[in-house]
Amino acid sequence: MERARSASGSPPMEERLRSTGRVLFHGAMPDPARGAVAATTLVTASTSPVRGDGPWPEEAHEQAVAWEDGRITYVGPADGLGGVEPERFEGRTIAPGFVDCHTHLPFYGWRADEFEARLSGVSYRDLHGEGGIYRSAHLLAEASDDEVLDFCLPLVREMADHGTTMLELKSGYGLSLEAELRQLRLARRLAEEAPQTCSVTLLACHAVPEGMKRADWIRAVCEELIPAAAADGLADAVDVYVEDIAFSVDDLASVAACASEAGLALRCHADQLGPSGAAEAAVALGARSADHLNNVSAGGIAALGGADTVGVLLPTSTLFLRSAPPDARALLDAGATIAIASDFNPGTSPVVSMPEVIATACSLYGLRPLEALAAATVNASAALGFGNRGALSEGAPADLVILDGDAFRQVPYRPGHNPVLHAFVDGRRVGGR
Ligand code: NIG
Ligand code: FE
Repeated sequence: MERARSASGSPPMEERLRSTGRVLFHGAMPDPARGAVAATTLVTASTSPVRGDGPWPEEAHEQAVAWEDGRITYVGPADGLGGVEPERFEGRTIAPGFVDCHTHLPFYGWRADEFEARLSGVSYRDLHGEGGIYRSAHLLAEASDDEVLDFCLPLVREMADHGTTMLELKSGYGLSLEAELRQLRLARRLAEEAPQTCSVTLLACHAVPEGMKRADWIRAVCEELIPAAAADGLADAVDVYVEDIAFSVDDLASVAACASEAGLALRCHADQLGPSGAAEAAVALGARSADHLNNVSAGGIAALGGADTVGVLLPTSTLFLRSAPPDARALLDAGATIAIASDFNPGTSPVVSMPEVIATACSLYGLRPLEALAAATVNASAALGFGNRGALSEGAPADLVILDGDAFRQVPYRPGHNPVLHAFVDGRRVGGR
């Protein structure tokens, strides 16, 4: 990772760390994966996913976090650090790094004209064809690998500056066997060069390839693409877009069987534009997550309430499409494990900022600030299958952010403001403002 970052043009990490001057290193030789910080407030969730009935994260005062070799060695009162002088952040908050568990990177090019057309009354469904997913597939096909990487790398760095310390990357703009595999390889390359930890999802079932029958594509995905992606270690999970303009619940079941055979987790774009029973199906199939849920049925809410499947809510995509929000409170009351993410993509959510996602989740979906924090950290980590990221605890990777403000509620309270002063991945500073 270090080599790749230097190759991508950034100054060497040690140099960047020295230039920030914010982390105190112990001993004669500066060790970038070793440090200690203390702040007025520390907020963190339990290390296991938080269901709708809690326990929600708690804030404590005058706390410190220390780490060595990229792993947290201490979380507790600042005066208990013993022999270590931390960098102090007065009036600031230490929180776990944000986990963006649903993005559509890597992609190439923007679709701002579609956004403008939607504001003149054209629907997302209307644009599906000439525009939408198919257009992004053409843009990706026409770009070279290096052009795609050069487009995406500044975006993942911008995410790091907004506190994202782990994120999902996905295919879905390939739409042929070879192009999907190419997008997965690009995702793996991006993961190597990105400052964050990344997980890669195969979303071959995002749109039916032009000139192909849906059933034939499902067969090809099951018989060729999933086994090939798994054999080459190109994907960690498989996703299906269940929608009237895309794939059916039966398609989801077929893909689920092949994914399971290949040892890959299942995820699902569920009930985004209309109700399809996808959330219930995702739970029945043991999916790791059901995402979007704008039109989830009462049965879907009940199913998520009794399952380990994470309900991933994507509030900036809802805002951007001006869709009806899902009933987040009903999901929580049912006992569901809720995550929030950006859905970063050029069509429905060109939003890189997790603080913005948190702000939108609170104001549009009615999440409380500390519910949103759990949704953006430990629960999102569970949606990616990473049990050890998203909470601050001894032995866990030192993925954390220093936020301005002495309480986490400052984050959703100030949409449009970047509250992230420093973001650390495995104890190394990767971004901030
Ligand atoms: O999650 N709706 C399906 N997929 C994406 C949008 C993809 C696109 O429009 O390019 C989503 O919203
Ligand atoms: Fe999505």
